[in-house]
Amino acid sequence: MLKGKRILLVISGGIAAYKALELIRRLRERGASVRCVLSRSAAHFVTPLSVSALSGDKVYGEIFSLTDEAEMGHIQLSRDADLLVVAPASADLLARMAAGMADDLAATVLLATDKPVLVAPAMNVRMWTHPATQRNVAQLQADGVQFVGPVDGAMACNEYGPGRMSEPMEILAAIEAQFAGGIRAPFHAGAPDALTPITSQPLAGKKVIVTSGPTHEPIDPVRYIANRSSGKQGHAIATALAQAGADVILVSGPVNLPDPKGVRVIRVETARDMFSACFLNLPADAAIFAAAVADWRVAVESDKKLKKTGDVAPSLQMAENPDILRAIANTDAKRRPALVVGFAAETDHVVDYARAKLDKKACDWILANDASPQSGVFGGDENTVHLVTRDGVEDWPRMSKQAVAEKLTARIADFFKSGVVDA
Ligand code: C5P
Repeated sequence: MLKGKRILLVISGGIAAYKALELIRRLRERGASVRCVLSRSAAHFVTPLSVSALSGDKVYGEIFSLTDEAEMGHIQLSRDADLLVVAPASADLLARMAAGMADDLAATVLLATDKPVLVAPAMNVRMWTHPATQRNVAQLQADGVQFVGPVDGAMACNEYGPGRMSEPMEILAAIEAQFAGGIRAPFHAGAPDALTPITSQPLAGKKVIVTSGPTHEPIDPVRYIANRSSGKQGHAIATALAQAGADVILVSGPVNLPDPKGVRVIRVETARDMFSACFLNLPADAAIFAAAVADWRVAVESDKKLKKTGDVAPSLQMAENPDILRAIANTDAKRRPALVVGFAAETDHVVDYARAKLDKKACDWILANDASPQSGVFGGDENTVHLVTRDGVEDWPRMSKQAVAEKLTARIADFFKSGVVDA
């Protein structure tokens, strides 16, 4: 969809500027050409050399460079594109855009353009929620500027809330949606009264159990049955919940990942161990079941290594493992967490199967993800997820597992604030 499209990417100053480099790569991978303009302060955060190397083009930055003006004037630069993307868009640049200023090349091309403009704001929570910024955002929206993000999350400045730039894959999804005819609604910046209130620890005082990783089901002392789960999604969820202030107990199967910071980790091997660890930690306020638990184990584990005996291969008698999610969702009201969330990895009919799973397991939400072989979900860094609740389905665009974790954490914080979730 992006093949042959010309994107003018304006990068303004801010910690999130490094994510613009990945955005350039992703756009070019999809066949778009990317020309970059750096704002006055952007070069403090990314070097023109790296931007130029990734975009494969000259980088523009100084309005009064006579050579640049002779080669390509700022008017032509702004018109010679199908879409202008500003990522990150700082509070300062949004203010200058809203005021119609043209005091550097970035602001000038944005004022001179006759093409659609998509901005991905990135700034401190309080700067984003400040009435001045919200006035500027409202003005820009009224002027037809499209927004992607910002999203809730932990920030470099140690605060938590809206202000973090959307991940490159979310910006990419918004760019594709722009070409397909409209920005995806979930990432449209809310009006000031729709903003999540600022609180650095929205889940402080909440105890959450998270399961993650695969389970290993022994056949004999040296062999086991397992699956391809890396634990990346479950660990990312534990990390994001802890950053939001929750007391997190991570019950993890065998994974090659470091323990998330500020999280109590209980390491287990088998589904039965995971089951016991979860029940031992009840009551809890919420439980998120991201583990890929083996459905079956070998009915009788051999205490000696199975030997090759002639031509006949051994056949394994299997027994069903306990369903941890289902058991906890159906436990007595005194111990049942107020919010029980399961995962569904499906290769087809993703949402239909997830709806059925919601009933079968009696849980509150299902995060359904596309696990078809071409999706690259297992072991990969990205996920395509649908949040299925009793009220409806929310489709999330393809995004990093970290972004999924942060978005889920924001939803959980909303749940505990209001007792419901919109979908
Ligand atoms: O039934 P299915 O395995 O598709 O369900 C997936 C969901 O159920 C996941 O959230 C997984 O963590 C959970 N589950 C579990 N115990 C099992 C099997 C699945 O907690 N034995």
